[in-house]
Amino acid sequence: MVNCLIVGHGAREHVVGETLVRGGASLFSFMSFKNAGLEDLSKNIEIHSETDFQKILEFCKKNSIDFAVIGPEAPLVVGIVDALEKGGIPCVGPKIEAAQLEGSKVFMRELLEKYKIQSNIMSKIFDSMEGVESYIKDMGEDNIVVKPEGLTGGKGVKVYGDHLFSKKDILEYCNELVDKKNRFLLEEKCDGEEFTLQAFVDGKNVIGSPLVQDHKRAYEDDKGPNTGGMGSYSMEDHLMPFFTQNDVNEALADMKKTVAAVKAETGVEYKGFLYGQFMKTASGIKLIEYNSRLGDPEAMNLLPLLKSNFVDICWAIINGNLSKSYEFEKKASVCKYLAPEGYPMNPKRDEQILIDKKKLDKTGAKYYYASVYREGQNVYTTTSRAMGVLGISDTLEKAEKIAEAGVGCIKGKLFHRKDVGTLKLLQKRIDHMNSLLKK
Ligand code: AMP
Ligand code: GLY
Repeated sequence: MVNCLIVGHGAREHVVGETLVRGGASLFSFMSFKNAGLEDLSKNIEIHSETDFQKILEFCKKNSIDFAVIGPEAPLVVGIVDALEKGGIPCVGPKIEAAQLEGSKVFMRELLEKYKIQSNIMSKIFDSMEGVESYIKDMGEDNIVVKPEGLTGGKGVKVYGDHLFSKKDILEYCNELVDKKNRFLLEEKCDGEEFTLQAFVDGKNVIGSPLVQDHKRAYEDDKGPNTGGMGSYSMEDHLMPFFTQNDVNEALADMKKTVAAVKAETGVEYKGFLYGQFMKTASGIKLIEYNSRLGDPEAMNLLPLLKSNFVDICWAIINGNLSKSYEFEKKASVCKYLAPEGYPMNPKRDEQILIDKKKLDKTGAKYYYASVYREGQNVYTTTSRAMGVLGISDTLEKAEKIAEAGVGCIKGKLFHRKDVGTLKLLQKRIDHMNSLLKK
C-alpha cells in the first residue's frame, strides 16, 4: 500500500484526497485548518501551519510517507517541494523557481515575452508611478487591468469597467500599490470567454484534461465582487460550445512551450499540476494567468471524472514518465459552492450548517468540505466558501439538476449561485462569444 500525504485544507484537497484513496492509497493529511472530509478519509492528520516544512517532514517520517501532493499555492511559492524533496519525500508540485509562474506575475509575463509565447498579452511592470500615466494614455484607460505582482487570493486584480471606472480610479489603485511597496503590472484588458485548462506535468510532458469554466463573481448573472470562485462546470465532450478542439490545442501548445521556457530559464523542470486560465477573444486565445496547482473549484469537476488511476499519475509526474493521455468519463459536471451569507465582504461565521446526508446521498450529488469546522457532529461556517456540491451526469442539464438537489439538502445561513451550469447562462456565453466573433 502506498502512503500519500496531502498538504492543504480546502475542498480541492478533499477531492484530491478522495481520488488518492480511490486509487488505492492510504491517506495522511497535513493542514492548517481541520477539513472534516480529509479527517474522515485519513489514517492520520496533523493540524499545523502548511509552511512549517520541518514539521511536515517529521510527519512524513513518522507515517512512512511515499509521496506528497501539495494542494494550495501558498506553500508552493515558498519552496515546500524543495524542502520535502531535500528530506527524501518525492512531491507532486513544482519547486520554488517553477512555482513562480503563479507566485510572480512579473516573472510569468517576462518569461512569456522572452520566449515569444503566442497567447501572451501586452503588459508593463512598474514599481513607482513613473511612466504610469503615459502607459495608460498609450493603451487607453478603458483597456487597462492592474495586477499586483504576488499572490492576492484572487482579490488584487482590478479590471477597468468592473472595479475601476476612470483614470483617477486607476491612478489611485496604482498609488496604493506603490505605497505598499508592491510591484505591479498594467495589462491589456481582454474581452471574451474564459476557460480553465488543467494539465499534469512531469517536467517534459504536459497532458491536458477536460475544460472547465469557473464563475468568479459572487452573485447570479456575473454580478457583484470577485470571489475565489462560486462554481464551475464541464461538459460531456470535454469542450464547451464556444471553445473548439483547436482552441484547446493552441492553449496546450503554449502550456508546453511555457514548461520548456521554465526549464530553459531557471534550470528547473516544472512538475505537478499546471492550471492555465485562458480567454478566447476576437483576436485569438490569450493567457490570463497560470496557477501552479489544481483549481478550486475546478479540481472537483476534474478528479471525480478520472478513470485512470490517480496514484499512478502522481508517480508518473514524479518519475517523469506520464502517458500521452489519461481517461476521463464522457460526462458533464456542475459544482456549486455554498458560501456564508455576506461572503466575500461580511461573511456570517460560526453559523451551523445542517446536512441531511441520507437525503443528499439519494440525489446522487457529492459534497466536499471547504472552510467549515466540525464540533461533534455539528458543522459551522467560517469566513470563506463553505462546501462544494457536485452533480455528474450524461448532460449538463441533468448534472445541474443533481447539484441543485444536493444543495437543497444543506441548510444554514448560506447562499449559492443558482445559475451556475444552467442552459440559460450557457446560452448567454454562446451569444457573447458569437457577438465578439461576429458570427
Ligand atoms: P486573475 O486573478 O489573474 O485570475 O484575475 C481575476 C479575474 O480578472 C480573471 O478571472 C479575469 O476575469 C479578470 N482578468 C484578469 N486579467 C485580465 C485581462 N488581462 N483582461 C480581462 N480580464 C482580466
Ligand atoms: N478557481 C480559481 C482558482 O483556483 O484560482
